[in-house]
Amino acid sequence: MKYIATTLQGSEEKLADELKEFGAENIEILNRAVSFEGDKALMYTANYLSRLALRILKPIYKFKVNDEQSLYDKVYKYNWTRIFSHKHTFAIDSIISSPYFNHSHYVSLKIKDAIVDQFRDKLGKRPSVNIQESDFRFHAYINDDECQISLDTSGFSLHKRGYRESGHKAPLNEVLAASLIQWSGWDGNTPLLDPMCGSGTILIEAAMYQGKIPCGFYRKNKYSFMNYKDYDESLFNSIKNKYDTQINLEPIKLFGGDHNPAYVNMAQFTIKQLKLEQYIKVIKSPFSRYPNEAIPKGTIIVNPPYGERLNNDDSILSFYSDIGDILKQQYSGWNAWILSSNFTALKQIALKPSKSIMVYNGPLQCKFQLFEMYQGSKKN
Ligand SMILES: C[S@@+](CC[C@H](N)C(=O)[O-])C[C@H]1O[C@@H](n2cnc3c(N)ncnc32)[C@H](O)[C@@H]1O
Repeated sequence: MKYIATTLQGSEEKLADELKEFGAENIEILNRAVSFEGDKALMYTANYLSRLALRILKPIYKFKVNDEQSLYDKVYKYNWTRIFSHKHTFAIDSIISSPYFNHSHYVSLKIKDAIVDQFRDKLGKRPSVNIQESDFRFHAYINDDECQISLDTSGFSLHKRGYRESGHKAPLNEVLAASLIQWSGWDGNTPLLDPMCGSGTILIEAAMYQGKIPCGFYRKNKYSFMNYKDYDESLFNSIKNKYDTQINLEPIKLFGGDHNPAYVNMAQFTIKQLKLEQYIKVIKSPFSRYPNEAIPKGTIIVNPPYGERLNNDDSILSFYSDIGDILKQQYSGWNAWILSSNFTALKQIALKPSKSIMVYNGPLQCKFQLFEMYQGSKKN
């Protein structure tokens, strides 16, 4: 069976590695996606374990299309009543890269109309649409004149791990946090510090990665595949049990700080809920006074304010210059990875990055840069 795992731009290769480890075959790297082959068990595994996938799609119907009427007609032709019933709710997500269609929302509406009309014509009853929480989710991708419709086996995006407390102004997407950890090459044994940790996403993802906690372990939402006619509950439970029993949190050293007491409380609350207090220690501290003397040297992964979403004045440049000074004066021997969309501010760090990876944080193009703080590193 062919599947497509979608992901964030730049995470495709790491996602392909992950899928290979789960046993996927014929893996092909696409743009913000990876296609692969496997059986139903692999699809359940990818949904439950993948840290880097957003959704696992199962292609079901492909056709040529070049206008709205032919889109409606072709969708109407497919036997939707075989897939789900009028009692289920459903939703359509569309992505278009085509000269024939302009609005993805409109494409979704056309597809929805054709499906609803088929149910009405065949059964006299129609399923309802529920955008937020549907039983069945479909994904349409129109590339030029080719439309591929897939079942979205995940339903709720896999980045919604289920541990997030709402309230932080700029929380990192969980899949991006997991990708940063992968790109940093953090070994899971040495200390990891996020000195501006906000709600604690990087630290929690690091604990989950190191402790082999499946990314679906805390998930509250059902997966869409659980609504399918062929859902094999005992197969899913056996996969879940297999990986849940492999959870092994060693005394890892994860440290966080934030100068905002409300965010520190938020991070501490989530960490306590997840019973990870023994593994992640978050304190209220400005970066400049973070008590790192007691911590063996390790890796910093930090997502400081960019100056767009959190504060928007010139002080952002001197803030980044201060980050450079603090790293140089207090973090010799550490590897510091910084994610930011503010390229001008990143230059104010005035240290030469030894690696620079282009990534997207939502719509913002960012650099994820490594500053290796050797003994006696000098600011440029
Ligand atoms: C972009 S947010 C980080 C979001 C975080 N990665 C998450 O997923 O929730 C930046 C954080 O840096 C914190 N911060 C800003 N200046 C700081 C400083 N000088 N020392 C410590 N924390 C700081 C802010 O309070 C904010 O929570």
